Amino acid sequence: MGTENLSQELARGLGRVLFTEEDIRQRVRELGEQISRDYAGLNPLLVGVLKGVVFFMSDLLRTITVPVRVDYMAISRYTPQPAAKGPVRLIKDLEESVEGQHVLFVEDVIDTGLTLGYLLRVLRARGPASLQVCTLFDRPQRRIAEIPLRYVGFTLPDRFVVGYGLDYKEAYRHLPYVAELKTEVLRGSG
Ligand code: IMP
Ligand code: MG
Repeated sequence: MGTENLSQELARGLGRVLFTEEDIRQRVRELGEQISRDYAGLNPLLVGVLKGVVFFMSDLLRTITVPVRVDYMAISRYTPQPAAKGPVRLIKDLEESVEGQHVLFVEDVIDTGLTLGYLLRVLRARGPASLQVCTLFDRPQRRIAEIPLRYVGFTLPDRFVVGYGLDYKEAYRHLPYVAELKTEVLRGSG
């Protein structure tokens, strides 16, 4: 593991590695085992929000041993600055109906919880049989909207992190591990 798949410029922006590829693989396997037990016979629908969650989702799906289905939605925010938190707008809806289905909402990271809170309200209004949340990363310090989380992979410190799907301005998503982003990188942006 290292920074060999990054340009020098991007590699300089990286701080401490918080979760190695092996840490993630092991925790994802545990989550998959738990979900397989809890959802046996329920044929759940796993729902993700593009794009960050696709790394976690595809690894998680491969550790689940009961029949499951997967669907995605995409959102955008009414804001010119991607870093600012504006209201959420659905730009791609699910292809599957969730009515009467056991829905497991899968997220990469939950920070303020505002995005998830909005999406859960949308899904709940469609009458699923059940609706639970599985997130790989949770940063509870910044939570504004209280949301019950059924499955949590890791708790994050109050630091911006990248890798394994998490991006900074679309960079670093492809890293197989999760690292802190140096504060100078964040400070230098609007
Ligand atoms: P929330 O509405 O504040 O919970 O926003 C969660 C979203 O913010 C995630 O889906 C990510 O796209 C983004 N996000 C939050 N924290 C981080 C981070 O540390 N690195 C990269 N993206 C993050
Ligand atoms: Mg993002």
